[in-house]
Amino acid sequence: MRDDIKTVFVSEIEIENIVNSLAKQIEKDYNCKEFVMIGLLKGSMVFMADLMRKIHLDFSVDFIVASSYIGAQSSKKVNISKDVSLDVGGKDVLIVEDIIDTGNTLEFITKHILDKNARSVKVCTLFDKPAGRTANVKPEYIGKTVPNEFIVGYGLDYNEIYRNLPYVGILDPSVYS
Ligand code: IMP
Ligand code: MG
Repeated sequence: MRDDIKTVFVSEIEIENIVNSLAKQIEKDYNCKEFVMIGLLKGSMVFMADLMRKIHLDFSVDFIVASSYIGAQSSKKVNISKDVSLDVGGKDVLIVEDIIDTGNTLEFITKHILDKNARSVKVCTLFDKPAGRTANVKPEYIGKTVPNEFIVGYGLDYNEIYRNLPYVGILDPSVYS
């Protein structure tokens, strides 16, 4: 293993099992519903590509590119640099996220989609880091709950690197200290 990764946190096989289990739950809940799956880029791209191929229903896909930044009075703001192109009005929407930390991004995006008159908005996240939560968001589908460590791989980055790792690893603190 590379020496900038402290440990493998979730192996390729474990990821596959998690994705299969999430897909089964979603398939059951969305059967006969015309839904739109919306991925939050860039982090969710690898996860969503695997997840969507395990869901044997008809649905459309779209993407949002959002990033958070510190605004005035140090309040966290979310900027959308690419919005959905499909009309989500009257549709059931499933947002796909890589990891939820404070929940700030997701709270903003959920409201943004509801403002477009979606019929329902649910959230599927591969990882949940509840220790960091400040916003009021409760994902309906959670792949794995993780401790307050910085993890990378399978779409998740540190400074835009590591997204291509096929497993999820805990980053060695020497990388960012
Ligand atoms: P939130 O708005 O604080 O919930 O931010 C969630 C976003 O922060 C995720 O979509 C990731 O882009 C990033 N993030 C949070 N924790 C991690 C981590 O451990 N590794 C990589 N990215 C993370
Ligand atoms: Mg992200």
